[in-house]
Amino acid sequence: MTDVMDYILRRRSIRAYQPREVEPEKLELLLRAAMAAPTACNSQPWEFIVVTDREVLAELTGVLYAGHYNPAAAIAVLGNTRIANNSAARQFWVQDCSAAAENMLIAAAGMGLGAVWIGVYPMPSVIKLVTEVLHIPEEVTPLCVIYVGYPAEEKPPRTQYDPYRVYWQRYEPRKRRAKVKNAKYL
Ligand SMILES: Cc1cc2nc3c(=O)[nH]c(=O)nc-3n(C[C@H](O)[C@H](O)[C@H](O)COP(=O)(O)O)c2cc1C
Repeated sequence: MTDVMDYILRRRSIRAYQPREVEPEKLELLLRAAMAAPTACNSQPWEFIVVTDREVLAELTGVLYAGHYNPAAAIAVLGNTRIANNSAARQFWVQDCSAAAENMLIAAAGMGLGAVWIGVYPMPSVIKLVTEVLHIPEEVTPLCVIYVGYPAEEKPPRTQYDPYRVYWQRYEPRKRRAKVKNAKYL
C-alpha cells in the first residue's frame, strides 16, 4: 500500500484528546496542507482562525452542539469570496474550503494527531454562534471547525469501500439498496 493510501485510511474522526498542547509548528503544517488544496480557478477563497486559547476554545466548543469535546486546538475554516482571486469562489467556495479541511485531516493523521471535522455551514444558527464567538465579519462564512489534539482514543484504519456504489462508464439501475442500514456515526 502506498503511504498516501495508508494516511487516507488511517484518518478517522478522533474526538478524545490528551490535555497536551499541539506545537505551533504542527498547526502551521496543517495550514500548509490546507492551502495546498485545489480550488476552482485557483481562487483560494479561504481564511482560517487557529484557536488555542483555553477560554476561546471553551466558548467555541460550547456553542458547537455536536462538538462538545476538548481539543487542544481548533481551526475554523472560513469562506471569504471577497478575498478570493476570482469570482469562481462565489459558486465553489464550499467545495474549495472542504478540500482544504480534508487536507488538514489527512495531514493530522500523518503527523500522529487526532482530528475531527465539526460541521457549521449551512446551519444558520450554528453559523451565527460561531461568528459571534470568533468575531467573524458578516461577509465571511465559517464552513467548519477542525478540532485537533494528541489522540486519547485509537480507531482502526478502514475504507468503507462499497462496489455497489460504483458504476463504470454509465449509470445503471441499482443492484441492491445502497444505503447501509444502521451505519455507525461514531
Ligand atoms: C460535513 C461534516 C460534518 C461533520 N460534523 C461533525 C460534527 O459536528 N461532530 C462530530 O463529532 N463529527 C462530525 N463529522 C465527522 C463524521 O461524523 C465522521 O466523519 C463519520 O462518522 C465517519 O467516521 P470517520 O471520520 O472516523 O471515518 C462531520 C464530518 C463531515 C464531513
